[in-house]
Amino acid sequence: MALRQIRVDGDEVLRKISKKVEKIDDDLKILVEDMFETMYDADGVGLAAPQIGVLKRVIVIDIDVLKRVMINPEIIEQSDTEMQDGPEGCLSVPGVEDVVRRPNVLRVRYMDLEGNVVEEIAKDLYARVICHEVDHLNGILFTDKVLEK
Ligand code: NI
Repeated sequence: MALRQIRVDGDEVLRKISKKVEKIDDDLKILVEDMFETMYDADGVGLAAPQIGVLKRVIVIDIDVLKRVMINPEIIEQSDTEMQDGPEGCLSVPGVEDVVRRPNVLRVRYMDLEGNVVEEIAKDLYARVICHEVDHLNGILFTDKVLEK
């Protein structure tokens, strides 16, 4: 395992669209291990591959109560009436915390590291982290979505 360098806002890799993963191989497994190590080292709860300069649709999440690897995640349904406004930060935007509106409930579909297609309902913090990390795969940072004060 290796620590990777976290890219910060201003690095254009953070603004690119990541590519779908076509196959799960050893390189991908190493990428995922490195992402967890890098995320834990930086005290984060989620990390997307482009944040370490890899334009692949892979995210890792660990919010204590659950830990996930999501390959090619897609939010296939989300509440548009039940929203949550809450503080967010990002390892790629150090020192900034601001309030972002996210759906309170969503349904996500992804592939796990064994290649199984998984569908899950996510709520509250879990839903927020998924939205934040999927945004990274589309070149979006949370600072693009901060609520007007
Ligand atoms: Ni982030």
